[in-house]
Amino acid sequence: MFEIKNLFVNYGGIEAVRDISFSVEEGKIVTLIGANGAGKSTTLRTIAGLVKAKSGTIEFMGEKITGKDPASIVGKGITLVPEGRKIFPDLTVLENLKIGAYLRSDDISKDLEWVYSLFPRLKERSWQYGGTLSGGEQQMLAVGRALMSRPKMIMMDEPSLGLAPLIVRDIFSIIKEINKEGVTILLVEQNANMALQVADMAYVMETGRITLSGKGSELIDNEDIKKAYLGK
Ligand SMILES: Nc1ncnc2c1ncn2[C@@H]1O[C@H](COP(=O)(O)OP(=O)(O)O)[C@@H](O)[C@H]1O
Ligand SMILES: [Mg+2]
Repeated sequence: MFEIKNLFVNYGGIEAVRDISFSVEEGKIVTLIGANGAGKSTTLRTIAGLVKAKSGTIEFMGEKITGKDPASIVGKGITLVPEGRKIFPDLTVLENLKIGAYLRSDDISKDLEWVYSLFPRLKERSWQYGGTLSGGEQQMLAVGRALMSRPKMIMMDEPSLGLAPLIVRDIFSIIKEINKEGVTILLVEQNANMALQVADMAYVMETGRITLSGKGSELIDNEDIKKAYLGK
């Protein structure tokens, strides 16, 4: 469904992503894990069209999407839930969700109901300002907003960052639920333990390169992974 080949991304003189290749099968959960600065966010931002690749190709549903602008990437069916949520604090929950559907001219009421059924808490708080939500609720709102564009593939950049363990568990069960509803997921996480538990396939990034890959269930038992990322 989705394939990156030999992607390089630079920021001025800094090589943030160096020759990475990986693919995502439709209906799966794929995770990119790795330490701070490994190039995970840069990879997602390049896919989303927010950063330009130096070279390499990105293909989605058989079409080359490298270099397309962010709105057309969303139009193709890929949305990004950015690192740090980036919700609009001065807009209500409902207004934030509507923004996620900004490219659509059709009726969004069904999708709003879908998002509210996934996140009953957002429904209860639909008139509350985004900025007054808790961290976990803001993350739910960020995911809900991304779902309002009805993506085929949703990319999430560290959805568990800064959240309490119980809330992290909620977020991961929502990730599984969204996936069960047919949305393909590309998940970036520093919480390797949780990410490997839900992922069908995982890629480990170190200083801009993919150094290891395998099924989530295999990597969770890998000795190097345990030492480097699972604190065992
Ligand atoms: N806007 C930017 N300008 C310059 N360098 C950046 C920028 N964003 C990220 N970098 C650098 O690119 C590298 C990869 O960063 P990033 O993709 O954010 O890593 P990760 O998400 O894995 O923590 C780091 O060395 C980081 O300092
Ligand atoms: Mg990052």
